[in-house]
Parts: sequence; C-alpha cells; structure tokens
Amino acid sequence: MIPMNRKTNDPVPCNELALKIKLDFPLLSREMAGKKLVYLDSTATTQKPQVVLDAELKYYQETNANVHRGLYTLAEDATTQYEQARMKVAEFIGAQYEEVIFTSGTTSSINMAARLLEPLVKEGDEIVITIMEHHSNFLPWQQLAKRKKCVLKIIPITKEYGLDMAAAQKIITSKTKIVACTYVSNVLGTINAVGEVIEMAKRVGAYTLIDGAQAVPHMMLEVKKLGCDFLAFSGHKMCGPTGIGVLYGKRELLEKLEPVVFGGEMVKEATLHTLSWNELPWKFEAGTPNIAGAIALGTAVAYIQEIFTLQMQEHLGDLTKYALAEMQTLPGLQIIGPRGEEMEKGEKIERIGVISFTMDCAHPHDIAEILNSHGVCIRAGHHCAMPLHTTLAIPATARVSFYVYNTKEDVDALMRGLRRVVEVFA
Ligand code: ALA
Repeated sequence: MIPMNRKTNDPVPCNELALKIKLDFPLLSREMAGKKLVYLDSTATTQKPQVVLDAELKYYQETNANVHRGLYTLAEDATTQYEQARMKVAEFIGAQYEEVIFTSGTTSSINMAARLLEPLVKEGDEIVITIMEHHSNFLPWQQLAKRKKCVLKIIPITKEYGLDMAAAQKIITSKTKIVACTYVSNVLGTINAVGEVIEMAKRVGAYTLIDGAQAVPHMMLEVKKLGCDFLAFSGHKMCGPTGIGVLYGKRELLEKLEPVVFGGEMVKEATLHTLSWNELPWKFEAGTPNIAGAIALGTAVAYIQEIFTLQMQEHLGDLTKYALAEMQTLPGLQIIGPRGEEMEKGEKIERIGVISFTMDCAHPHDIAEILNSHGVCIRAGHHCAMPLHTTLAIPATARVSFYVYNTKEDVDALMRGLRRVVEVFA
C-alpha cells in the first residue's frame, strides 16, 4: 500500500516543484538514446545546478589567484571567497569555522582521519566499523588495524537491513579505541541510529567518525548534536563539483592532533630541521587547495539549504515510497534494503531514496543496459561495498537513487524500462 499524501491522494504531491527544480540543472534537459534523460544515480554523484556551474566559472574568470599568499587585491578576494565558503559549510553542519578542513572528498577525509588517529592506537586496541560501510570507510580502518596490529571488529546488520544494535552493544567495549560508522548506507539506503552508536563509543572513550557522504546531502545534520569527533562528506554528492570534500573534526581533538601531510600553507615556521604548524584549520590543508571547488561548494550548500525549505526532503520520501511500491509489483524483483514497512524494536527502519534490487530474470548489468537504452541511468555492481555484498551472498545489485530533481515521471520511466527487462529476460 502506498502511503498517501498528507493533504491529497497524490502519492507524490510535490512533483510540480521537483519539475521546476529540474530546470535548474542543464544536463537534465539532455536526451539519451533518443529519449529524455532520466538520471537515477545521484548516490554516485548528483547533477549540478546552473548557479554552481556559474560560481566555478566566475571564480576562474574574475578572481583566480592563490589563497593566503598574495598581498594584492585579487589574491585577497580569492582568499575571502574561499574562507567564506568554509563559513557557509560550517554553518550548514553546525560546526565552528576552524573545524572544517577542505579535502578532495570523503575518501581523502577518512584516510586523513585514520592517519591522524594512528599515533593514538597501539597493538591490541580494537577498531569497530560496520558491515554496511563503503570501501572508503572500510579500507582505511582495515589498513590502520594492519599497520598497528589492532583488531578490526565489524558490527553486522539484521535481516531487516538495519544495523544490529544489540551486537554493537557487545562489540564496543573498553578495548575499543575507534568507532567508524556510516550515517546512511550507499547500498541499502538505511539511515543508522548513529547517535546511539556515538553514545556507545563515548561511554568507552573511543574516537568516532561518521561517514556522512550519503547523509549530509539529504538531511540538516548538526555535528554538535551528533557529538561525533569526525564527520566526512563530499561536495559532488550534494550538487557541488567533484574534487572537493570536508573533514569536520572537533576543535579540541584537532588541536592536539599532528598533521600528516606537509608542505606549503600548513606551516607557521620552517627551519633546516624543524617545523611549527599553522593555526586550525590550515595546519591540515597543505598545498594549494581546490579553491574553485570550495567556492562552488559554498554555492551548492546555499542552493540545497534553500531547497530544503521547500519540502524537498518530504518529496524524496514520497518518491521513494512510490518507487518501492511500484517496483514490488514486478515479479521476481527483490528490494535489497528496508522496504519501508519493517519494524525493529517497535520502530520503523528509516531509509532514504537509495534503492538496490535484484531481479530473478536478469543480472544487474543487463538491467542497467536495458534501462540505458531507455535513457535511464542507474548503477549496477557492488557499489564499492564488496564486504556487504559478500555477506548478503549477492555478487551484485542494481541501484536507483533519487535527488531533489527527480520526479514521478522519472519513476514511471524506470518502471517502463524494468517491465521491458521482464519481457526480454523472463
Ligand atoms: N560512493 C558512490 C556510490 O555509492 C560512488 O555510487
């Protein structure tokens, strides 16, 4: 049963608004395979609105100069715009300005956090992650554990595709030194109770990192309320450009950690044999940063902040329910993730519009290919979460994912393609 709109019987009541938002994204007016392009792979990367494209171009056309170095007006303007972008990002996640480190994306943020914490762990310490992690929040910890002879422990999931919190209670112990957990799974779409995981970690004095790559683009998240030590996310999954991301770190912690990348910008004074580092956050930003990317990310943040005020989170919820209901009418299609009705401890498992699935009649690559011939872009494979797929004993899944520009018509196009898959392969 499709949960109906709050006011009408329309399953996707904010669709008109989404159709208008779609016009902000030039690429979405393209055709593909002789059909209107339908982009359902925003978990991999979102499309970019014209304002973000303009911001990046404007920087290069009007303000291009290196930051924090030049004493001329152009360089000062570039520095001001770069630091204003940091301010916007900090406000967006409820952080202090000094706590926002620009990186090239979630992967480099988490790798940096693992390197920063390395001196604080020793042989026999335990590092806890979950089985639903993307490789970017799995492998840096696996490799840190290997380098320092720590024990890597993994929180499993339940059969309803939620994090197994009872297991987490047992796994996180006084031996735990780091807990790294994704807020939202890029495969299952599950929203984890990360607040509870952070509390468990805090009780035993462990450091915490939250992978916010899929969460930050979808929710107004406040790091101070969350209480994590680190939060990592990427610009390109929230309407910003590729090559820019953020590592948020708690100020008190960042102050005591030593940088792991050395070069220009991060230094206060260098002598032949010594180095003293710059203030936060620059001590962690060695080398020329992605100035244009950061400025464009600032614009993307302002754009999605405005979108969030327009009920677009509700729209994505409605679209997901509509898609889940429609997809499950197809014979032999299994949703790999919460279907929207599962309960755990009397509570509904929350999810976002990332829907992975398999079909009895076709391999995920065949599904993606047929959809491609209908102009519909989806991802198929293991989605950089091989340990999760291995645990589920599924080599690959097909995955659709929505963002603020997706509409009911996009889901209808998806369904036409999936019906064709059944016709061809069943
Ligand atoms: N992390 C991205 C995805 O899940 C690339 O597709």
